[in-house]
Amino acid sequence: MKQYAASTMIRRLPEQYFSKLEKSIVSLKSQGADIINLAQGSPDQPTPDHIIKSLQEAATDPQFHRYSPFQGFSFFKEAVAEFYKNQYDVDLDPNEEVCILFGGKGGLVEVSQCLLNRGDVALVPDPGYPDYWSGVAMQEANMHMMPLRHEHGFLPQYEDIPARVRDEAKLLFLNYPNNPTGAVASSAFFEETVRFANDHDICTVHDFAYGAISFDGVKHPSFMQTKGAKENGIEIYTLSKTYNMAGWRVGFAVGNRSVIKHLNVLQDHQYVSLFGAVQRAATTALTSSQAGVTELQQMYEKRRNVLVEEAKRIGWAQEAPKGSFFAWFKVPNGMSETEFATQLLHEAHVAVAPGNGFGEHGRGYVRIGLVNDETKIKEAMSRIEALNLF
Ligand SMILES: Cc1ncc(COP(=O)(O)O)c(C=O)c1O
Repeated sequence: MKQYAASTMIRRLPEQYFSKLEKSIVSLKSQGADIINLAQGSPDQPTPDHIIKSLQEAATDPQFHRYSPFQGFSFFKEAVAEFYKNQYDVDLDPNEEVCILFGGKGGLVEVSQCLLNRGDVALVPDPGYPDYWSGVAMQEANMHMMPLRHEHGFLPQYEDIPARVRDEAKLLFLNYPNNPTGAVASSAFFEETVRFANDHDICTVHDFAYGAISFDGVKHPSFMQTKGAKENGIEIYTLSKTYNMAGWRVGFAVGNRSVIKHLNVLQDHQYVSLFGAVQRAATTALTSSQAGVTELQQMYEKRRNVLVEEAKRIGWAQEAPKGSFFAWFKVPNGMSETEFATQLLHEAHVAVAPGNGFGEHGRGYVRIGLVNDETKIKEAMSRIEALNLF
């Protein structure tokens, strides 16, 4: 077979960390190993019935068998505006301030394609979700990494960014509740962000993938609630985590009209829009009772408590995450995160995600997901205990 060379753009893309990690787990499983996978970030619960029923009904409606309108159905964008009003008391114009996305991941890559040119600078959290890197690489733009350190609550310190970089930067990626650290942000931090970003003419992109998952009775603020945020930047929301719809590939961006317009233009050229029945079911998810979301959040909180109690029991004392469904645990002294994760995978058959996959400042940590039930979490911790590493 003839081998076609990949374009330079494809060759610039960073290695897909999660797909590499997944391959080694699948390979061990195929040899019969009973792996408890705490490395993954895919929700383990099913999509609620009323959302599935909505899809089933909509799938038989011929209006959805034709092309969806460019930029999506108005009913879905209106549902997004209603959701933001109900949840966060934020007013959005469904026509100008909402863009439908094929999952949050798509939007996070597209926003770089929309705003960055070759040589431009994007401010990126380190550790952080690696998909921010992909769009920046496609555009031949540069990343300036903002370290997220424990002593600062895993929030970036804007004053540490060199003056030249602040002036050059065009985009700022943030994500709270945070993957991978489980940290949360306050309204005051978001206010500081708007001030910083406006002073330096930087568009903020707040990735709100885990917006529904924060603990200890705290509802995490939306960046859009901050005065001036809607003018400064956008927020990207996904239905993947809030409604266990990761496979459905549906999300949306809200906020600054010019950015929403650019995202829509890009999508007009790449796709038509999401399958209409998915838009209908997503509308059901956003506009019907949110009781299931509260139950989901309580379920993750219980799992978090079990994980932290178990970690303490085995001498791996760690702080409890405040949001997202990840815990960010330090590895035992003297070991690298890769050595530790490899030992856990091969000797305890427990998969955790080594922190260096999320950036240089992820060294010395592993990410543990709460997407397994309490019994599995306990079993995993007992297996780790048996390795006598603490
Ligand atoms: C921080 C963060 N942002 C965005 C996403 C993308 O989610 P999706 O593409 O399923 O909407 C994920 C998924 O794991 C994530 O962890």
